[in-house]
Amino acid sequence: MGSFHCPVGGLAYKSFGCIECGLCIASTKEERIKASDIIREYIRNSHDTGTDRRIRKIAVCGKGGSGKSTVAALFSLALEEFGYKVLLIDADNSNTGLGRKVGISEKAVSFMNQVNENNRKAIEIAKKDPIAIDDFDDELSLSKDNIKLLSIGKIENVFEGCACENASMAASLINSLNTDDFEIIIADQDAGIESFGRGVEQGVDTLIIIVEPSYDSIELAKNIKYMGEGLGIRRIRAVLSKIHNEEEEEYIEDILSDNEIRFLGALYEDPSLNVLNLKGEPLKTADSYKQAKHLVDLMLDEAEMKKTKGE
Ligand SMILES: Nc1ncnc2c1ncn2[C@@H]1O[C@H](COP(=O)(O)OP(=O)(O)OP(=O)(O)O)[C@@H](O)[C@H]1O
Ligand code: SF4
Ligand SMILES: [Mg+2]
Repeated sequence: MGSFHCPVGGLAYKSFGCIECGLCIASTKEERIKASDIIREYIRNSHDTGTDRRIRKIAVCGKGGSGKSTVAALFSLALEEFGYKVLLIDADNSNTGLGRKVGISEKAVSFMNQVNENNRKAIEIAKKDPIAIDDFDDELSLSKDNIKLLSIGKIENVFEGCACENASMAASLINSLNTDDFEIIIADQDAGIESFGRGVEQGVDTLIIIVEPSYDSIELAKNIKYMGEGLGIRRIRAVLSKIHNEEEEEYIEDILSDNEIRFLGALYEDPSLNVLNLKGEPLKTADSYKQAKHLVDLMLDEAEMKKTKGE
């Protein structure tokens, strides 16, 4: 079974916690799909339907290049302005520019490397449950004002192996992290759907799907919504990115609504974002920051969450 982790926390097949889905013993694709349907049903039925509407952990996902990191950064900056402390988790295995988008230009430390190099603090945190945002001190994370950047790890060398280790670490940290009032976690996910297949997003309560104006991006959004529901995520919202005009916005909104994907709002094509992203400068001065802040305002209102510095 190698490094297989049971998605529902079973110790082994037919032992404590096992729902006998058959995933760990599946050998064909059909068997894996059948097992995944059983897990999906199980998670859906056992999901906590309590009345806590608050947003604590957000995953930002979508097609490669659609604008995930841009939105994760803009939302972090806006949340900070509303008085929140943000833990911005960089769960992307390749790109290194997320910190710069929120004004952190130092190279982030890879948490996974710290664990592999036997950093005692990192190992303790990796085993801890619950984890507090402040457990990640300056040795393990970088901060700018009230935004803390935690990088899970990057693939840096040839023959280094796959990203499974990083994905398992991201899943486990996201699950175990706890937030106080006025604290929010935003995870900037790897492109596409692979992380869902690994269940990385299982610990979040809010999924933001970035949808750019392309057929592939819309199709992927449908798939992500299906996967997100399977993981028991209760709040799934689309944010449109790089929109050119109202006609385009309405066209995409109609498809999303036909597919019961709720829509938070749109960010229009913004040349100032491209300039800042090109130079590796913070995105707060982008023209679309105000619109992003408006979307965050809506999101907080919907979740009945307070804003200390809101307008
Ligand atoms: N609203 C927007 N207007 C104009 N350009 C944008 C907008 N949003 C993102 N971009 C541009 O699109 C490119 C990709 O953005 P970004 O890196 O945020 O996407 P991503 O989904 O995180 O990509 P990846 O899948 O590689 O992680 C960047 O050059 C960025 O400047
Ligand atoms: S059969 Fe399913 S629930 Fe049981 S241990 Fe295997 S993966 Fe987990
Ligand atoms: Mg990105």
